[in-house]
Amino acid sequence: MCEKKIHDGLQDVLACKSSICRIEMIDGKAILEYRGYDIHELAQHSTFEEVAYLLLFGELPTKSELEAFSEELKELRELPPQIIGLLTHLSPFSHPMVVLRTAISYLGTMDKHIHHKSHEKSLQKAKSLIAKFPTIVAYFHRIRSGQNLVHPSDELSHAANFLYMLHGVEPTKTEAKAMDLDLVLHADHELNASTFAARIAASTLADIYACVVAATGTLMGPLHGGAAQKVMEMLREIAVPWRAEEYVKMKLERGERIMGFGHRVYRGVVDPRTIELRALAEKLAKEKEPKWFEISRAVEEAVYKYKGLFPNVDFYSASVYANLGIPDDLFINIFAISRISGWTAHIIEQYENNRLIRPRAFYVGEAGRKYVPIDQRGD
Ligand code: CMC
Repeated sequence: MCEKKIHDGLQDVLACKSSICRIEMIDGKAILEYRGYDIHELAQHSTFEEVAYLLLFGELPTKSELEAFSEELKELRELPPQIIGLLTHLSPFSHPMVVLRTAISYLGTMDKHIHHKSHEKSLQKAKSLIAKFPTIVAYFHRIRSGQNLVHPSDELSHAANFLYMLHGVEPTKTEAKAMDLDLVLHADHELNASTFAARIAASTLADIYACVVAATGTLMGPLHGGAAQKVMEMLREIAVPWRAEEYVKMKLERGERIMGFGHRVYRGVVDPRTIELRALAEKLAKEKEPKWFEISRAVEEAVYKYKGLFPNVDFYSASVYANLGIPDDLFINIFAISRISGWTAHIIEQYENNRLIRPRAFYVGEAGRKYVPIDQRGD
């Protein structure tokens, strides 16, 4: 008998103290704040650069601090030639998340101060990673599709520059704003699996690149950031809104999960990010292709009807990305482009108040067995 309670999946376990992201349920409503600022307010007024600053430094920047921070990110956008060489050598059929984590690791080999963990040095590395993530993703996409590289612009915002490097044309104001809002909404989310992976690595005092590689690998799974790509596959399979209910019913009857629904923390409550993303998807649908949003709405209604589940952050992200012309297999990378800001903030917080994260397992295997030499085991 297990005397201690096992927390399967570590559900509801408080694993550390943190002052980065607050998720709280109050009167049946979910509150999500970055450093104490409500996500809806940030969605309305902020930008990704401002949110990244807020996550890293703990305070909203003044105008001049934000300008300096944005300039610094711009200066750090370009990739060293060795990384561009790596991107050209990797198989064009590799998943772009596998490429991203490989490039991060390679960046680590080029950092002479890889093991330095002072606050200043860690911030510098964080800024460099935040700045370079979009370039790695866009460059690999252009290389694998046989297109010339589009070098970073020093005029455009983080979000607009990513779309520019990816598509080779400057985005419209609506597209740039949509991308920016999406990055704001994905920037942090407390101890989600990838951030926890980053903090576990940081708790061993591994270098920041190792921590970010751990996080990037963890984000890729379909139960985490990989869900948005799966959502898009589902929307394409459904193809028309009137087929959504029948599709959802069939999947649930087979005991399968509907991607983009359910959440470990938001149980029976709406994910606040979904409210913003649904509105964004609807706005884009009015100006661009309406189909993906219409199917998404029909899926949302059917999942609620048959399972009582709400969509999570990955669900409406899919139709937003499709309407921004982003290929399906880059969806997880977009999540990473944003979440790197949260990951690095958490890694720095972990370094600065560290205790090795090392839980226990309740052993359920056989015990005290006698070793049998190989020639006495039979075949
Ligand atoms: N489709 C159908 N049923 C579901 C789903 C789903 N997507 N999610 C949860 N359920 C059901 C589950 O079958 C169970 O039902 P019952 O009580 O009847 O057996 C109940 O809801 C509770 O599920 P759980 O397995 O205890 O939930 P969990 O906290 O272990 O898992 C989750 C959370 C996100 C992994 C899960 O909801 C899921 O697999 N969702 C689909 C994948 C997805 O959208 N992932 C993105 C997560 S949010 C953003 C991110 O982290 O990137």
